[in-house]
Amino acid sequence: MPDIRIDLYSDTLSLPTPEMRRFACFAPVGDEQKGEDPSVNELQEMVAEMLGKEDAVFLPSGTMCNQIGLAVHCRPGDVILLDRTAHPLIAESGGTAILAAATAYPIDGPNGMFTPEQVRALMFPPSRYRPTMRVVSIEQTVNAPGGRIWPLEQLRDVCGVAHEWGLGTHMDGARLFNASVASGIDVADYAATLDSVWIDLSKGLGAPVGAVLAGSREFIEEAWQWKQRIGGAMRQAGIIAAAGIHALRHHVTRLAEDHENARRLALQVAEIPGLEIDLASVETNIVRFEISGLDISHTEFARRLEEEEGVRVSTPGTFLRAVTYLDISESDVDEAAAAIRRLARRTRSG
Ligand SMILES: Cc1ncc(COP(=O)(O)O)c(C=O)c1O
Repeated sequence: MPDIRIDLYSDTLSLPTPEMRRFACFAPVGDEQKGEDPSVNELQEMVAEMLGKEDAVFLPSGTMCNQIGLAVHCRPGDVILLDRTAHPLIAESGGTAILAAATAYPIDGPNGMFTPEQVRALMFPPSRYRPTMRVVSIEQTVNAPGGRIWPLEQLRDVCGVAHEWGLGTHMDGARLFNASVASGIDVADYAATLDSVWIDLSKGLGAPVGAVLAGSREFIEEAWQWKQRIGGAMRQAGIIAAAGIHALRHHVTRLAEDHENARRLALQVAEIPGLEIDLASVETNIVRFEISGLDISHTEFARRLEEEEGVRVSTPGTFLRAVTYLDISESDVDEAAAAIRRLARRTRSG
C-alpha cells in the first residue's frame, strides 16, 4: 500500500481528537436499550433541541438513519422520491427495497436539488393502479455534485408540495452542519419543514461513530422499534455517544475552516493548466474537478497521485473529488495542490 501523506478521500476519515477521546473515556454510561445511558440520552436531547424536534434516537450510522427513517415513513409498495444521486439510491445496497419495501424513484435535480415543479409533476390523485407516493427525501448538503447547499426557499417549496399532497419529508443531513455554517442559516430552520431529519457525527464533526435521527415523539418511538428489530440497539453506547456530544460542543463552528481550506484548494486547482473546476460549485468542504485537458484518465490520475505523490482523492464519477476535514490543514491543502500541479505537468509532458 502506498504511503498516503495527505488523504482527501472523504471527511469520514476524520479522527477523534485527544480531547474527544479523553471526554468519551470518562463518560457516564448505562443500558441504552432501557433508556438508562445518561450520555446517549444527553446526545439525543441535544440533537432534538438543536433541530427543533420533539425527540431523537442515536444510531450507529447515517445509513441506518436513512434506512430506519424511510422505513418509518413507508408501507410496502410505497414510493420514495429522491434525487438520482441520493445516498439511499446509490450507496445503501438497495436497503430501501428490503427494509422499507419501497420503490425509490429518482428525480434528476440540477446539482442534486430538484424543484417543486419536478415534484408536482409526479403527483396524481389516488388510484388503484398507481403506487402511493409516500415521502420526499432530500440530502443537505448534496454530496455527489460537490457539497452543494439546498437554498432554504427551494427546500421549503419542495416540502410544501410534498405536504400539500400528503407526503412525508425526510432529510439526509449527513452534512447539514456544513450547510448551516456556510450559509449562516440555523440547522433548525433547515429542519423545520422536514418530518424527519438526521445528522452524522462521524464526518466533518470528527466523532468516530454514530448519527442521530430526529422527528416527532411518535416517529422516534417507531424508529426505536426498527433500531431494535435490525440490531442497531446497543448497550453502554454512551462511550461513543459522548464523542458526539464533544463534537457538537467543539467541532461545529470550526467547519468554516474546512470550507476555507476547500476554497483554497479549489483556487489553486483552477490555476493548473489542463484541469477544470467550477469555483462556484465549491460551497462547503467538497472540491470536484476534472482533468479533461490532460492525456490521462481521471482514475489513472488519481492512482498516480496516490502512488507518486502520496495524495489520495476519490473518483466517484468522471471527475476527481477532494474533501477537507478536521485533520487537513491549510499547509496540507497547499501541498496537495502542489502535488496535483506536479503530476499534471508530468502528464502533459508525456
Ligand atoms: C450524503 C450521505 N448520506 C449518508 C451517508 C451514510 O453515512 P454513514 O457512513 O454514517 O453510514 C453518507 C456517507 O458518506 C453520505 O455522504
